[in-house]
This record gives sequence, structure tokens and C-alpha cells, in this order.
Amino acid sequence: LSSIRVDVSGVEPGTQLTVKWLGKPVFIRHRTGAEIQEAKAQDEAAVGSLPDTNARNANLSDPEASAIDENRVMPSPEGEAPGAWIVQMGVCTHLGCVPLADAGDFGGWFCPCHGSHYDLSGRIRKGPAPENLPIPPAEWTDATTIKLG
Ligand code: FES
Repeated sequence: LSSIRVDVSGVEPGTQLTVKWLGKPVFIRHRTGAEIQEAKAQDEAAVGSLPDTNARNANLSDPEASAIDENRVMPSPEGEAPGAWIVQMGVCTHLGCVPLADAGDFGGWFCPCHGSHYDLSGRIRKGPAPENLPIPPAEWTDATTIKLG
């Protein structure tokens, strides 16, 4: 598996960086405090109604881990709130289009190809996509660098 290192020092809260890894887009999102709060609220509201209840997170040892927000975010670097960073493949799990950020009914991502709505945790909430956006192997190598793969 080839890996890349991404400098995320310029990714302000409320924005996302899209990079290519293994030929596919990866979304690196720096969430604001308000987005973290909203993701928590969505977590509570979504209990029992998620189309896909699996975290789909390659970094978790338990392949059955549930799709709660906590299981989908990166550990935060020192000094940052838990849940400030989420890294996921920018590939719709329906037929592979690239979802748009800050869009859709849940304020997360929206796939314009056939109308799949993902929430602030990247979980499918509405539309034809069957699964949450997958989370690739990702880790911090220092406070501002994420290694993918
Ligand atoms: Fe995204 Fe069909 S490819 S909804």
C-alpha cells in the first residue's frame, strides 16, 4: 500500500482539503466547534435510523464498530477539540461520483449524481448510496501532518 503525507496546517476550521490517494479523492475536513456540536446532535438523532450502522473505518481494530461519530473521526492533535478532524474517501458508495461538501439535507456532503445525502460524520442518511463514506488508513505523523495509507 503506498502512502502519502499531507500538510494540513493551512486547512482552516470549516473547510476541507481534497487530495488524491491511490488515484481517488480523499476529503480531509477540519470541523468547526459548531460542526462538532451538530455532528453530536446528529449522532443522537440518527440512533436506530442509520442505513449503514458500520463505522467503515480502516483504523479501528473492530470491523463491527458502530457508526457513531466518535468512531469516524481522527484522534485530535494536542490542543484541538475531539472530533475536529474527519478524513474519508471522497467517493460516493453508490456508483462512485465525488460528493460535494457543505451540501445536502444533513449539512455534510451531497452526491449530485443520484441524490445521496451524507451527514457531518460522512454517514449515508438519504438516497441510494448503501454505505457510509469509507475512512482510509490515516494517522498523524506530527501536529500538522496526516499520513494516508
Ligand atoms: Fe452518488 Fe449515485 S453515485 S448517488
